[in-house]
Amino acid sequence: MSLNIKVEKTTNPKTKPDANNLVFGHNFTDHMFIMDYTEGIGWHDPRVIPYQPISLDPSTMVLHYGQAIFEGLKAYKAKDGRVLLFRPNKNMERINISNERICIPPIDENFAIEAIRTLVDIDKDWIPEAEGTSLYIRPFIIATDPYLGVRPSNTYMFMIILSPVGMYYPEGINPVKIYVEPSYVRAVKGGIGFAKTPGNYAASLKAQVEAEAKGYTQVLWLDGIERKYIEEVGTMNVFFKIKGKVVTPALEGSILAGITRDSTIALLKHWEIPVVERRISIEEIFEAQAKGTLEEAFGTGTAAVISPIGELNWAGNKILINEGKTGELSARIYDTITGMQNGSLADELGWIMVL
Ligand code: COI
Repeated sequence: MSLNIKVEKTTNPKTKPDANNLVFGHNFTDHMFIMDYTEGIGWHDPRVIPYQPISLDPSTMVLHYGQAIFEGLKAYKAKDGRVLLFRPNKNMERINISNERICIPPIDENFAIEAIRTLVDIDKDWIPEAEGTSLYIRPFIIATDPYLGVRPSNTYMFMIILSPVGMYYPEGINPVKIYVEPSYVRAVKGGIGFAKTPGNYAASLKAQVEAEAKGYTQVLWLDGIERKYIEEVGTMNVFFKIKGKVVTPALEGSILAGITRDSTIALLKHWEIPVVERRISIEEIFEAQAKGTLEEAFGTGTAAVISPIGELNWAGNKILINEGKTGELSARIYDTITGMQNGSLADELGWIMVL
């Protein structure tokens, strides 16, 4: 795709937030990217404009039927001043997997990476440099036909916004308490669980709110049919270390194929630590704990990177994993991925794109 990205710079730059007090997803940079899709024309008019509200007709389809997808990735500034992106090709591949499921026309993955690079370059002074911070990149697509019938839209907007962020969970890399969700399910095979689409996140809110009211940070999702097999933790993929071996639920249609999940599996293989993708029942985890073989548990995701699980509550039975402390392997994976991302460690696996 050889489209030129038009650039209109802001004449009124904002004050940047204090990099030492950043929370996740509250601040946005000076610019945003937009590109439109019209049936018969394709994607057109890519442009960077000053960050601003968008105006939508109240009948716009996305507001009613949720035909939308999104992504999340991060840019870091290395000590030597280079701007680094972590595996942006994987996010753009996944955009098209989500698009296909939600009936949104595909985007040109290389062009979308160019759009990200153009925008991040314009707002690179917004990349925070304090420990644990980064510039979160949120590409997303929404259906924009003003129409109330249920069918795929004929028009769309692809946008990218940028947010300087700190840790996703206030706990940071400290372990979180997790409630094993007995009633609500996140997704089922044949549904949309493998797509990064807003409906999955809307469906997760009630369980999250109820778990928070009980003093837990998030829920552990079980499968939608037998309520037996582990799927995800909150908005993250989940891993367990049992007797020296690492296991994570296999991707069988209802689980999001996380990029941090993929990176974790690749790193474990690189380190020659056994790792298996398979079905894991919640019973197996509690049995392993009873036998003393459950060594660590952690979530993986772009926003938090690695989030150790310190406690699990399953129907009132509580277990403390690794005495509620961050495990050695969890910390090693966190340090390695964030080290590669921020340029303090060598890019041994070829994951870094320099802007
Ligand atoms: C992630 O990056 O882990 C997520 O999916 C969370 C995001 C929706 C904020």
